[in-house]
Amino acid sequence: MTTPTPGPVPHPGRVRLRRTRSTPAMRRLVAETRLHPAQLVLPLFVREGLTEPRPIASMPGVEQHTRDSLRKAAASAADAGLGGVMLFAVPTVRDAVGSQATDPDGILNLAIADVISEVGDALVVQADLCLDEFTDHGHCGVLTPSGAVDNDATLVRYAEMALAQASAGAHLVGLSGMMDGQTGVVRDALDAAGFDDTAVLAYAAKYASAFYGPFRDAVESALVGDRRTYQMDPANRREAAREVALDIAEGADVVMVKPAMSYLDVLADVAAVSTVPVAAYQVSGEYAMIMAAAAHGWIERERAILESVLSIRRAGADHVLTYFATELAGWLAEENR
Ligand code: PBG
Repeated sequence: MTTPTPGPVPHPGRVRLRRTRSTPAMRRLVAETRLHPAQLVLPLFVREGLTEPRPIASMPGVEQHTRDSLRKAAASAADAGLGGVMLFAVPTVRDAVGSQATDPDGILNLAIADVISEVGDALVVQADLCLDEFTDHGHCGVLTPSGAVDNDATLVRYAEMALAQASAGAHLVGLSGMMDGQTGVVRDALDAAGFDDTAVLAYAAKYASAFYGPFRDAVESALVGDRRTYQMDPANRREAAREVALDIAEGADVVMVKPAMSYLDVLADVAAVSTVPVAAYQVSGEYAMIMAAAAHGWIERERAILESVLSIRRAGADHVLTYFATELAGWLAEENR
């Protein structure tokens, strides 16, 4: 038996896509997406009454801050050139209507003022505008006597909360409650009180997601049950475009998709139609997955973080909320040296 002879040496033709992958300089030249610290926003937690920062078990590397350590974290974020910080607070006392959310001496409002006095305009100081951290039942709104989340009564509370946050100096309020009409009601309340320059971020497409799990730890959430009557169903894609269109019509300055990594299709859709900047939130569970796998040595931590945030940008996010923001900005600065 004779071995068959191979034919002529194959040639792919004129096109060789590997040419533009051949060196780091070539790859850098043709990269379609880049990361910049200004496109990163760091979420931060502050807890009332703490004397020492407290680690969050399911989010290694992230902590509940004291008022003092929060200032320092915000200052580091500013030094790193981040685009902003998003503030979340954990009060010691909760009630049915979330009174602490609208008390000027409530922990979130005090923290906003603290951070503003620390960083001024060097960062966009953003505050989570939602009741779940402040209610004893853990829902994002107030309840009807039968225990359902009361959309329209909640809007009144959101308007009051927006005024409290704007009075404390917030540059931007982040509406994360998913009540119908929240963007318009808050915009009108801010304008009527003279806060024309306070921006509104609408968590336009926010899904009822398992990936918020570690966040519940971070804010010691009291929630029993779930948020499926107000947050979006993960099954739905088309509905996100409706949410975004409504929020833009109601005056949103920025719209957001959340979570990010499991919703890149939604993010791409939103980026294609939005006339305002689009944000995406790499949430607590996404952070925890990367940290856990990296701790086992199953993925390379730094590469996984860079790739995940780059992919969120590539899908269409103009900026990304991520717990990796300050560290990531440090790597980017090194890369550019
Ligand atoms: C609501 C809010 C949540 C998150 C941000 N804002 C929790 C929820 O909707 O259940 C989650 C963020 C994260 O998981 O990192 N105040």
